[in-house]
Amino acid sequence: MNDAALSTTHVRPLDTQRAINLAVTFWFSIAAIGHGIFFVYILAVFYPPIAESGLYGLQDMHLPAGFREGDTLGNLAAVAHVLLAAIVIGGGPLQLIPGVRRKLPTFHRWLGRSYLLAAVTSAIGGLYMTWTRHSIGDLVSQITISIDGVLILVFAFLALRHVIAGRIAEHRRWALRLFMAASAVWFFRVVLMGWAMLTGGWGIDWETFTGPFLYALGFGQYLVPLVMLQWYFHCEKREASQRAQIAFVSTLVPLAVFMAIGIFAATIGMWLPRM
Ligand code: HEM
Repeated sequence: MNDAALSTTHVRPLDTQRAINLAVTFWFSIAAIGHGIFFVYILAVFYPPIAESGLYGLQDMHLPAGFREGDTLGNLAAVAHVLLAAIVIGGGPLQLIPGVRRKLPTFHRWLGRSYLLAAVTSAIGGLYMTWTRHSIGDLVSQITISIDGVLILVFAFLALRHVIAGRIAEHRRWALRLFMAASAVWFFRVVLMGWAMLTGGWGIDWETFTGPFLYALGFGQYLVPLVMLQWYFHCEKREASQRAQIAFVSTLVPLAVFMAIGIFAATIGMWLPRM
């Protein structure tokens, strides 16, 4: 055996930064496909009836809190909520693609403004519907989704404040947090359906739409994505240990695989049947 074979100088150290980039790209590609399917669902299911019947468009649909006879303000909130959801769900992933940001800066700016306005209006509409109409679930689900609404408002304000002040690195961090909070309702559906497919719905009472799993998911729909994002911010830093970076990749990849299963389950079990 020669010296070169024994030498360690030819062995490349594990490139954890590259592994993180690959894992994040893998996660994002799956999330973007899933958002695309939900976007098509929103366009196909809500736009035609609203275009035809206006504020009566959500009457007799699958949304228990979608329509109330005589409640014009509430019906307006519901209609605006589902129409603007298309901008939030369709626009969010587009905003995060570096190539779009670099090559189409004007598009990025305008989509960013529309996304922010849509997320804020949709959150306010959602809060209004949640507290003035009875939907599925109980007080716990009302509280957990309302926390999401408040997070959307706070993150949108901070993302806007930093970009106006020209603090781009800060803006990026708050805009990413806004994306996670505004997509929490998407995470909720994907995790719910993935869980139902893998466990048969353990911890879920489908009649009342309550149960331990649903309570955990009520908080988890935004807390898990936000914690993972914070971990990612930490791993980007120079001083991040390799051990933290490897742990991050080893957590994100299985989560992404579970997300793909959930997207499949939500598409065939929830979205396609209503389209
Ligand atoms: C900004 C991000 C959000 C998006 C993109 C979004 C999207 C949607 C969509 C697409 C629906 C129709 C449900 C379906 O067909 O699956 C819906 C319904 C609803 N959303 Fe949101 N939503 C968001 C945030 C919120 C928030 C923060 C709240 C409450 C604080 C909320 C409360 C509701 C309520 C009450 C309904 C009607 C449910 C029912 O009738 O039972 N949403 N949302």
